[in-house]
Amino acid sequence: MDNLESMLSEKRIFSPSTEFSERARIGSRAAFDALVAEAERDFEGFWARLAREFVTWDTPFSEVLDDSNAPFFKWFADGRLNVSVNCIDRHLPAKAEKTAIIGESDDGSVTHISYQELHDRVAKFANALKAQGIEKGDRVVIYLPMIPEATVAMLACARIGAIHSVVFGGFSAEALRDRINDTEAKMVITADGNMRGGKKVTLKGQVDKALEHGCPSVDTVIMLEHIGGVDTGASSAKELTWAEAVEGQPAECEPVMVEAEHPLFILYTSGSTGKPKGIVHSSGGYLVNAAMTCSWVFDLNDDDVYWCTADVGWITGHTYVTYGPLALGVTQVIFEGVPTYPDAGRFWDMVERHKVSVFYTAPTAIRALMKLGDEVPNQYDLSSLRLLGTVGEPINPEAWVWYYQVIGGGRCPITDTWWQTETGAHLIAPVPGAIDLVPGSCTLPLPGIMADVVDDHGHSVPTESGGNLVIKKPWPSMLRTIWGDDERFQRTYFPDNLPGYYLAGDSARRDQDGYIWIMGRIDDVINVSGHRLGTMEVESALVAHPEVAEAAVVGRPHDVKGETIVAFVVVKGDRPKGEAAEAMVKTLRDWVTEQIGPIAKPEEIRFGDNLPKTRSGKIMRRLLRGIAKDELPEGDTSTLENPAILDQLMGKD
Ligand code: WTA
Repeated sequence: MDNLESMLSEKRIFSPSTEFSERARIGSRAAFDALVAEAERDFEGFWARLAREFVTWDTPFSEVLDDSNAPFFKWFADGRLNVSVNCIDRHLPAKAEKTAIIGESDDGSVTHISYQELHDRVAKFANALKAQGIEKGDRVVIYLPMIPEATVAMLACARIGAIHSVVFGGFSAEALRDRINDTEAKMVITADGNMRGGKKVTLKGQVDKALEHGCPSVDTVIMLEHIGGVDTGASSAKELTWAEAVEGQPAECEPVMVEAEHPLFILYTSGSTGKPKGIVHSSGGYLVNAAMTCSWVFDLNDDDVYWCTADVGWITGHTYVTYGPLALGVTQVIFEGVPTYPDAGRFWDMVERHKVSVFYTAPTAIRALMKLGDEVPNQYDLSSLRLLGTVGEPINPEAWVWYYQVIGGGRCPITDTWWQTETGAHLIAPVPGAIDLVPGSCTLPLPGIMADVVDDHGHSVPTESGGNLVIKKPWPSMLRTIWGDDERFQRTYFPDNLPGYYLAGDSARRDQDGYIWIMGRIDDVINVSGHRLGTMEVESALVAHPEVAEAAVVGRPHDVKGETIVAFVVVKGDRPKGEAAEAMVKTLRDWVTEQIGPIAKPEEIRFGDNLPKTRSGKIMRRLLRGIAKDELPEGDTSTLENPAILDQLMGKD
């Protein structure tokens, strides 16, 4: 791109266009500031107003926040609602025929599901769950591919007050078993398999294996026949197909009204120990933030076609596929396949065909697609896009500007959304019609979110200093606990050294304008000769180099400096070897020195064809830390997308 360098070297502020702001829900900085002021003036009144605006209550709440048993906060506790009614039924009078879901399969076939059809499917499946003895409060594990039925299954649970726990389809049988047993689920909903990149992937076999290894709580397995032609085996539980389960069930199902604090779902996420944490989310408070952020941050309107590429197995697929967009009654795309099949233009082809207007994806996907060159997206008409979003990790400015220019045509704001499984919804993100954007920063906390950067005693750190990112007051969609482990919840998120603040586990800094820059996980901070460095900061510098596609940085113990930096780098084009590699190492060390300072210069740089990642695209730093020490990684590598890369990075090929 011609002007990339100049865009990166200029003062990098991108103001929202008048065209965007004029039609945006929050269209000016003044409007945004007024909301911030409202929340500061009357915190509970602010949230009560939003809870009434965005959620339809069966029994209105009279109490807003109950902090009598902090940090076990309750929101809207005497209110009652049903989440599926909020996502479906309340839209029916006005838009029964409107498309709720455009489902696109791996092979390109497309189905449109209207709000009325979604209602009928959810009601039938909810009745099927009841027929199998599932009741309010029972746990149901959903192990399905990224297809509309996953959303149907989630909403069917919500309709009858059952608590779902979605397990990402890429997880192994062992991981599935652990989650089933931790939740003591009575039922598993799965499929025979799914299609990814033209290949069949089987799922049901994993369920059989999990059950074989002992899941005493499971009575029933419901299996969707999705791909056909695979041997689906048999498990020890009672089994029926989705079609059998819904056969004869009526398309009406009386929703169970639940108290606002009733758990909507449990979703597992990795912590600092080996055992994943079952993050528990509420019904009422969760839905308030889910809907409100879809409105404010994604600016979703009735005429938008929205597409979030995340899998339902992750929090993004919960809040920004199933619950938030449907609560607002918009049309969205759900895509089963992969971005590079049948070719590298798949995403952009889909944007063109479905006239996607709001597109939300991860920086890792953006970088991978950027690596393939501008020619690919340039072949498509992307003029329907009006807003772009990112999530999951800091986006490096180079990828940001590429996304902005090549995908957004210099027309679409990019909302870089910071949040976590635990936070339930966006907490820090630019409200796109109101906030000036700076590539690499998630900008300002949303109104009502009291974020700060503090030291280990809870004192705010000065501008431009790194510290712990905390949220000083509760918010409606915060996690309620870790399933079965209140003590770990309290210890992890509300540690004794901080005065009642939620500890996010990320380090961050604030700049002169109050903008927040995420520096990385607290556990990924490297201390080189007493200087704290964010691994992500070094990575961002490396990927800013024109030859670098992706980089991961870890610390390696050093007897003089404490730690030194080891970088794993994927370059654009072929992996350099021999002299070319040596030259590239020198170039990159100089480059990082130039970008951040000599302290950030990697001691060692290794090149790979790619990096070890989980199937959700997260780089597995735990493995890289071992490799950096030339130790074969210990522990479970079953969630790796690409296990062969380990040998390469160990220098074995
Ligand atoms: C990181 C994903 C920088 C962060 C929704 C956080 C980000 C963790 C951003 C949560 C962002 C997420 N900029 N870092 N915009 N979004 N992160 O639970 O380290 O899978 O703590 O939730 O991802 O990951 P999780």
